[in-house]
Amino acid sequence: LGDGLALTPPMGFNNWNSTHCEADFDDALIRGIADIFVSRGLKDAGYTYVNLDDCWALPQRAPSGDLVPDPVRFPHGIKAVADYVHAKGLKFGIYSSAGTKTCNPAGFPGALGHEQQDANLFASWGVDYLKYDNCNNQGVGAIERYTKMRDALRATGRPIVFAICEWGTNDPWQWGKGVGHLWRTTIDINDSWASVVSIMKSNTAHAAHAGPGHWNDPDMLEVGNGGMTATEYRSHFSLWSMMAAPLLIGADLRKVSPETFEILGNRDVIAIDQDPLGVQGVPIRSANGLTVFVKPLANGDKAVALFNENETPARIETTAAEIGLPQASGYQLRDLWAHTDGHTTGRVSALVPGHGTAMYRIGADRHWFQQPPALDGAAEVE
Ligand code: DGJ
Repeated sequence: LGDGLALTPPMGFNNWNSTHCEADFDDALIRGIADIFVSRGLKDAGYTYVNLDDCWALPQRAPSGDLVPDPVRFPHGIKAVADYVHAKGLKFGIYSSAGTKTCNPAGFPGALGHEQQDANLFASWGVDYLKYDNCNNQGVGAIERYTKMRDALRATGRPIVFAICEWGTNDPWQWGKGVGHLWRTTIDINDSWASVVSIMKSNTAHAAHAGPGHWNDPDMLEVGNGGMTATEYRSHFSLWSMMAAPLLIGADLRKVSPETFEILGNRDVIAIDQDPLGVQGVPIRSANGLTVFVKPLANGDKAVALFNENETPARIETTAAEIGLPQASGYQLRDLWAHTDGHTTGRVSALVPGHGTAMYRIGADRHWFQQPPALDGAAEVE
């Protein structure tokens, strides 16, 4: 949006993928996530926003017209939760719909026709991020509805990241840059391999439209929710980072395994997502379910992902020349999942497990004068 917000893809948490509207979506969950962000090093790794999704409000507005927090889920109100999150040095996000009601059949109120009143209330609570859904929109044009809320948020004077959630139905990549900081490109993700692969493929088509302050959003992470293997979750996290996607954790971190923290806390991979150049990586070659992705980085390095969509292990290879690195006598290469440094004269090759992704950061050797290039030809990384 050109207002200095979301210069890198937003990182944080949203409860939807783990709780939907179930009873465990409540004050304790949100405070618990904020605690864990700090205690498990996720805040230091870059996760900032702790966001509520649908079902936080009562079905009826107050006589004043204001939205009312559900007193069972949020007995201290929303501002108390926001204050708690802010006291941890984190930011707080909320949800509404650009329609008369949100998506839940219980009929929670949406902001259509109440944009300024709701934006003012959110700002008074200390909201830093608004996810704005698309249900019950009464057929009013998307650009009109989302622009109205953009202006209402602006008028509050509070910096608020604005997430357009109209599921890619009105080509938001064509107009979203001037309206919000990110826009969903697809229908909802679910906790399955098929969903991750199909959303990834749709989202890559819009890569040219992403950049600092305006991101394609292939939906929130499912890592840790239990429906995929650790290998598949590592692929999900790798691909979302290669695509400069928002990294919104969708698992209830109070209940996840150490392996989930290892995946979500992988700073080598996060650095690719958060690279300040802000270019969305793209597949440069894809055949028979084996894909080479490349993402250019601010310091001239490239991130490379070797992605195996198939069930059986496969060797995937590329070269420094193919991924667009300048000619050099050698290249440094870091394995972003093994966290090991290596060296290659140009070839990059890995035996990638079924549904797996190998991921590297590669740059022309900057220290060749101190460490002569290896004479052994290609580095083999597996
Ligand atoms: C549809 C959105 O795409 C989901 O992410 C979630 O916010 C639900 N609506 C909530 O009703």
